[in-house]
Amino acid sequence: MNTSFEGTNCVILAAGEGKRMFSRTSKVLCEVASKPMVMWSADGARSAGIDSICVVISNPLVEQALKGQFDVCYQNERLGTGHAVLCAAEFLEKHKGEDTLILYGDAPFTDYKTMCDSLELHRSVGASATVISAELEQPHGYGRIYRENGEIAAIIEQADCNDKPEIDAIHEINSGAGWFNTEKLLETLKKIKPNNAQGEYYLTDAVKLLIADGNRVTCYRAETADVTLGANNPADLLKLNEIARDRIIAKHLANGVHFTVRDGIVISPDTEIAAGTDILPGTMLLGKCIIGKGCIIGPNTVMSNCTVGDNTHIDACRCYDSVVGNNCTVGPFTQIRPGSNIADGCKLGDFVEIKNSNIGEGTSVAHLTYIGDSDVGSYCNFGCGVVVVNYDGEKKNRTTVGDYAFIGCNTNLVSPVSVGNAAYTGAGTTVTKNIPDGALAVTRPELRIVNGWGARKLRKYIEKKNNLKK
Ligand code: UD1
Ligand code: CA
Repeated sequence: MNTSFEGTNCVILAAGEGKRMFSRTSKVLCEVASKPMVMWSADGARSAGIDSICVVISNPLVEQALKGQFDVCYQNERLGTGHAVLCAAEFLEKHKGEDTLILYGDAPFTDYKTMCDSLELHRSVGASATVISAELEQPHGYGRIYRENGEIAAIIEQADCNDKPEIDAIHEINSGAGWFNTEKLLETLKKIKPNNAQGEYYLTDAVKLLIADGNRVTCYRAETADVTLGANNPADLLKLNEIARDRIIAKHLANGVHFTVRDGIVISPDTEIAAGTDILPGTMLLGKCIIGKGCIIGPNTVMSNCTVGDNTHIDACRCYDSVVGNNCTVGPFTQIRPGSNIADGCKLGDFVEIKNSNIGEGTSVAHLTYIGDSDVGSYCNFGCGVVVVNYDGEKKNRTTVGDYAFIGCNTNLVSPVSVGNAAYTGAGTTVTKNIPDGALAVTRPELRIVNGWGARKLRKYIEKKNNLKK
């Protein structure tokens, strides 16, 4: 496929209220394989090669999710899809002479091939509009493609065909995605009237209006129906998630990644996994994760936006926005919070939390330890129960630990403080001053031994118990 997307632009409709979805935020932020639906559409258009993309929104949370990567315009009243496109008029005016791809923010699967093939058809016949359709076994809820003499003549919405069984019986549906000559689109939008069951300005009415004005309208039938599926309610959303999961797992299987189950595995479409890595049950790889080869991830591990080297084992962990090197073992029950960088050969064990810290090569933090806002050297050993006291109630401070340092069990490192190379801290030490290289720091009251104290206690206890029995 060599389709050029030069001379094209894209408008994504994402301002609907999504009442049928009962979403806490906005329907288009509902996630499919952990990626908001609107991001599937927007990233899909961008990676196809469309540079100018405008998303029509109504909820500022959607603008936040788009992270300034796309133009946005607001539709302040939800008057229908035709009205929504009109809200992008200013954007479209700048692109007269081009072709506009319309995508719906609740239909995430419009793929590259469908975009290319439909654009080729659109261009080859000099169409003013090219609708992307599909044959669905269960077309209920979608707009139907009404044909006359084999050619598309109109799109009839579900709400307007309930009393027309012959239309209701049509299985060819409108995906919502399609191409328009930008100038014709602008002209036609102004002619759409809300004369329908829902009292909305339907973008789909543009089809019959364009034809009535003597323009050519074509229909590209997608090769597989999946690419056109949308989600209006929780059941649709689950269906899309199941399709996405199976597709994503199939892609990784083909690349040599091992799985023992599909259930409960969530992998974002943007995650990369190298061959020979095992993904165990209960693993979620969210955002953009990059996992090396020969790793074992899981069981029961959630990672978001993390990079992992080769041959690393991450078992029952939570890891966010961080990097873990090669040949590490992490977990069970380790949490790596944002901004952490774990070098090669580290061992992080159970109930260890690392936050915004660098941990040098070969360092071992085996159990029950918190390291926050710290720069730790290589080949250090942290005993059980070490706490970096990084927060003084007002601000976070950084701590530094040199190479080959040995931090004894139950040490508190009160930040900001530095521990020198090859320095030691005794068990139970609270460190409030910098420790020079090679030194030992101990804060420990003298141990007192009182002979016979425990034996006296025990005798009293036995007497009390015997008295109770009498
Ligand atoms: C729409 C199509 C239907 C098609 C189906 C495919 C129309 C009139 N109908 O129906 O032919 O089969 O999609 O999934 O276009 N939106 C706005 N502003 C609005 C209304 C909607 O931005 O005022 C956005 C929504 O956020 C959504 C998209 O447009 O992303 C589609 O709206 P929706 O209400 O879901 O339309 P459907 O009833 O699914
Ligand atoms: Ca919809």
